[in-house]
Amino acid sequence: MSNILVTGGAGFIGSNFVHYLIRETHYNVTVLDKLTYAGNRASLSDLAEDRFSFVEGDIADAVLVNRLVRDADAVVHYAAESHNDNSLNDPRPFVDTNILGTYALIEAARRHDVRFHHISTDEVYGDLELDDPDRFTETTPYNPSSPYSSTKAGSDLLVRAWVRSFGLRATISNCSNNYGPYQHVEKFIPRQITNVMDGVRPRLYGEGLNVRDWIHADDHSSAVLTILERGRLGETYLIGADGEQNNKAVIESILEIMGEPADAYDHVVDRPGHDLRYAIDSTKLRTELGWFPQYSDFRAGLEATVQWYRDNEPWWRPQKAAAEAKYQLTGQ
Ligand code: NAD
Ligand code: DAU
Repeated sequence: MSNILVTGGAGFIGSNFVHYLIRETHYNVTVLDKLTYAGNRASLSDLAEDRFSFVEGDIADAVLVNRLVRDADAVVHYAAESHNDNSLNDPRPFVDTNILGTYALIEAARRHDVRFHHISTDEVYGDLELDDPDRFTETTPYNPSSPYSSTKAGSDLLVRAWVRSFGLRATISNCSNNYGPYQHVEKFIPRQITNVMDGVRPRLYGEGLNVRDWIHADDHSSAVLTILERGRLGETYLIGADGEQNNKAVIESILEIMGEPADAYDHVVDRPGHDLRYAIDSTKLRTELGWFPQYSDFRAGLEATVQWYRDNEPWWRPQKAAAEAKYQLTGQ
């Protein structure tokens, strides 16, 4: 394996993985990315072009995808419409990219017998009660809640069917909520950090008791590389770092880190169908492949993330007004 095609490599987690590959391996990397509102070429601008190339295009473009997949030894598929709130306002791009785009990629991968790794989310499993002692495992039944998570579930099922029916050499990973640098300002943590920087009070949906299982994007990248290189074909691996926090606690931490009173935020209208709690049991990945997360201190990771947004305003500023304008439409 020497040439890796990374779809969605200009997004938050995809760009982290591209940097990780260039830093930690000898692979050549080609990124295919449509540069939607969520893609940012600047997230890759520091990479030399000796082992890295960038193709602007749509994963649903079967002709383009066929050529790029044919020339690759492996595909790692991150490209997606990724934001739940957008999916509630306009689901169509989620069906087009997450389902039809994934279909185009796996058809090309089976045609050329190329190793495929599909990036997915814990949201395909629906949500848990706050006091449920169980966490999601690889055998938890699918029960997605939103247009976003249902299209991700659909894409997972396509990959599973291509493995069974056509022998596609594929693995799937389902990861929990990522945080870290280069995350779009529409998402919870960067939105609140940049709001505080702008002198705007952070916005908490509903009571804020919803729990997310936070993992640093660097840990997600190391897990994906582990699965790509050593995962068993046809298997699904859950990726998580035991980072459960409710949203209220996260907002209070951000405010404290940024030197503001911990209660200087507003409750706003809740997300329709808002999943209550996600929690990952990543025992299979840890015991079978020996992977462990490096970031065990969420508060320290959050402090570093706050500092990154303070230091990199030119990266996020161009997206901020448009992201907030979308939220104004729903009163959030
Ligand atoms: P993101 O929105 O930051 O990035 C998505 C990238 O995909 C962007 O660069 C965008 O331009 C590109 N893209 C969108 N549609 C495309 C298309 N049709 N063709 C080519 N490129 C296209 O998303 P993210 O948060 O980095 O998530 C990446 C992947 O990881 C997604 O598959 C998501 O479901 C999954 N995931 C995300 C999280 C998380 O916490 N963010 C957790 C688990 C899984
Ligand atoms: O669990 C993995 C998923 O995590 C990924 O599949 C998604 O791509 C990713 O976007 C993320 O989904 P969430 O919906 O959990 O993330 P988001 O950042 O949108 O919201 C996190 C929590 O914070 C959620 O409970 C909603 C809440 N929230 C969000 C925003 C933007 C607020 O309270 N206020 C806000 O302003």
